[in-house]
Amino acid sequence: MTKQNAKDIIAESEKLLISTYTAQPVVMSHGDGIYAWDTDGKKYIDFAAGIAVASLGHAPKAVLKTINEQAAKMMTCQASYATLPKLEASRLLIENSCFDEIFWCNSGTEAVEAALKLVRKWAYDNKSKECNEIISFRKSFHGRTYGSASVMEKRHSQPFFAPYLPGVHFAEFNNLESVKALVSDKTCAIIVEPVQGEGGIKVAEKEFLQGLRALCDENNVALIFDEVQAGMGRIGHLFAYEYFGVEPDVGTYAKGLGSGFPVGCMMAKKKFGSAIVVGTHGTTYGGNPLATAVAATVVKEMLKPGFFESVRKTGQFFMEGLKKLQRDSNKITDVRGAGLLLGVDTTIDIKKLIRGAQDNGLLTTQAGDATLRITPPLIVTEKQAQDAIDILAKTLKEAE
Ligand SMILES: Cc1ncc(COP(=O)(O)O)c(C=O)c1O
Repeated sequence: MTKQNAKDIIAESEKLLISTYTAQPVVMSHGDGIYAWDTDGKKYIDFAAGIAVASLGHAPKAVLKTINEQAAKMMTCQASYATLPKLEASRLLIENSCFDEIFWCNSGTEAVEAALKLVRKWAYDNKSKECNEIISFRKSFHGRTYGSASVMEKRHSQPFFAPYLPGVHFAEFNNLESVKALVSDKTCAIIVEPVQGEGGIKVAEKEFLQGLRALCDENNVALIFDEVQAGMGRIGHLFAYEYFGVEPDVGTYAKGLGSGFPVGCMMAKKKFGSAIVVGTHGTTYGGNPLATAVAATVVKEMLKPGFFESVRKTGQFFMEGLKKLQRDSNKITDVRGAGLLLGVDTTIDIKKLIRGAQDNGLLTTQAGDATLRITPPLIVTEKQAQDAIDILAKTLKEAE
């Protein structure tokens, strides 16, 4: 391929690619740890990290070693075969969770699809044929395939994709009464993000999740936690539910699980997992030897002593630093989050703020209508967090 300059690469990509995203002004080249470089050689602190994906940073040695060794050995085999990597990754996740069974897939939305199919079949088999309704939450995000898109309020603003799944009702996040009002004998499941990510980094109140747990138990309804963004160490625990001390029946995972390698999974307690039987679900790439070898390596890295303590400590440091910045600046209106899933609201136009930070060498993303989302690799140090806060302070100042 001939060498092209960034402008030409962006222009040609715009022409060739179906427009699912607003084009960025630079072309990404490579990464190392918490840093990324563009094709012009500019270095960034990458606290977008693929939106909470590069959990161990870019090019983590352990993952590279696993990819090289496993790719040379075997990348794929028919999903019906057991393999050692699939067994090891499954064992690691199950032994360290409240779940009994796992389904492997390739992305977050596929994990959510699997969860939705599972709870509907469970209710069909065990409650009634009419028990197929799902309760979800305003401003939630679960993915872009039909099932996931159906359990998102956004469906109302995208009528061109209709018809969606019927029987989906939306309650207010952190408002238990609004959920109670929607529960009926047709409700098979409640799906909730313990921390709403795309919705603007909204952390669930512990009492709210406890209330959902009790409501589900009382009504024999499945409780699904969509932990695609908040799980896998992001908020200081392997599983996001541990942060809240509330166990779901079903959990969905992706993003940080592969630290950049595409892999996802849906996990369930036996009572629910056993509803899926041969022929009712599956996917060609799900649980392939390469992806599960990577997942096993990532989880093993996270389970090393001190990893989650470090995420919690650095998260605390980051949060306090942002709060100090809020006190020093009159442009920050709110700072919130959990662990290393952080959100900052400001008076500055969000697109300008993200662009300004990028120009100053810090990559972040937007969440919700106007929240600056910070999702660093989980290996970030306090010094590196401070570097990012300093860039943010400079960017806010420049926005005067
Ligand atoms: C909570 C949650 N669920 C599901 C998804 C969908 O994941 P994917 O983009 O891998 O399909 C996302 C992605 O941002 C997410 O944040």
